[in-house]
Amino acid sequence: MVKAVVLGASGGIGQPLSLLLKASPLFSELALYDVVNTPGVAADLSHISSPAKITGYLPKDDGLKNTLTGADIVVIPAGIPRKPGMTRDDLFKINAGIVKGLIEGCAQYCPKAFILVISNPVNSTVPISAEVLKAAGVFDAKRLFGVTTLDVVRAETFVQEYSGKKNPSEATVPVIGGHSGETIVPLFSQATPKLDIPKEKYQDLVKRVQFGGDEVVQAKDGAGSATLSMAYAGFRFAEKLIKAANGEKGIIEPTYIYLDGVAGGDEIKKHTGLDYFSVPVELGPNGAEKAINPLTNVDAQEEELLKAAYAGLKGNIEKGIEFAHNTP
Ligand code: NAD
Ligand code: LMR
Repeated sequence: MVKAVVLGASGGIGQPLSLLLKASPLFSELALYDVVNTPGVAADLSHISSPAKITGYLPKDDGLKNTLTGADIVVIPAGIPRKPGMTRDDLFKINAGIVKGLIEGCAQYCPKAFILVISNPVNSTVPISAEVLKAAGVFDAKRLFGVTTLDVVRAETFVQEYSGKKNPSEATVPVIGGHSGETIVPLFSQATPKLDIPKEKYQDLVKRVQFGGDEVVQAKDGAGSATLSMAYAGFRFAEKLIKAANGEKGIIEPTYIYLDGVAGGDEIKKHTGLDYFSVPVELGPNGAEKAINPLTNVDAQEEELLKAAYAGLKGNIEKGIEFAHNTP
């Protein structure tokens, strides 16, 4: 019996993500929350003949409380998306406050739930979330995840011609760091099966993974950013997490975590000098059971990419922490 919640469920990501969760037999209950349209989205999805019992709430009448009470997993795609010319950090002004408010609700109504943060800028919204949970005395690093799965999905897709896999998702490409531009670091040298990327293609492939989000923002031309591929990626991470929580072994996915408090995290923290970093994480009954250190085995080109990622992430993390501490 697993209750899933989507906060921001009426949006471009929220609706297809809710569809995928509703269609999955892993969930017995699905509660949708947004500031608009959730009764309609819930009514629509409720006609699907899958097991999950579905409810839709608005802020009125204790909506957030009713949504979150009893939740096992909360996925958060609430907040504004980019338009051409914007960075993810430009979203901070609005999304930081939205995420802070929603996490305060999680701290109060479902302090033990797994929390998956999609809202950008993920590099900062996850530190904000951790600080809010810490202030409420309910923080568990193993249960808070910044969703970076779309970067992994893109890497698998973009290297397909070198992985030789008919189904690109059968390739494993660790993508580490953060979730914006140069903080995204694909480790092609650690892919399985081994990739034979021609030298002259390497830079373009790295850039495509780092700036895949911009490709979609430009193509949508003012109508938002990735929604369908993100719903796929968010569902993939949620599904893996619940399967691991149900006892399935050997499930590993990269995700952006607070390194203290996850086994193996201190070694990565020493290496990066950062409190937050996305690395492959072994998932299990308690969430992030073990962070796997990919940093001792990187090649010279990846080492250069990592230096830029560390610098970018440091500022993004500090900005999130500062906001959480100084915003009432
Ligand atoms: P959208 O505008 O289509 O949907 C966002 C939804 O959030 C809207 O329905 C809105 O009403 C709702 N919302 C706003 N404030 C809220 C609040 N306080 N409580 C509950 N709901 C609230 O945007 P989208 O395209 O779905 O993108 C959502 C976020 O996800 C953006 O910040 C975007 O940058 C981010 N994103 C992240 C990734 C990733 O890889 N992590 C990928 C794509 C998009
Ligand atoms: C993405 O990677 O597609 C998202 O973070 C959305 C964006 O702003 O690019």
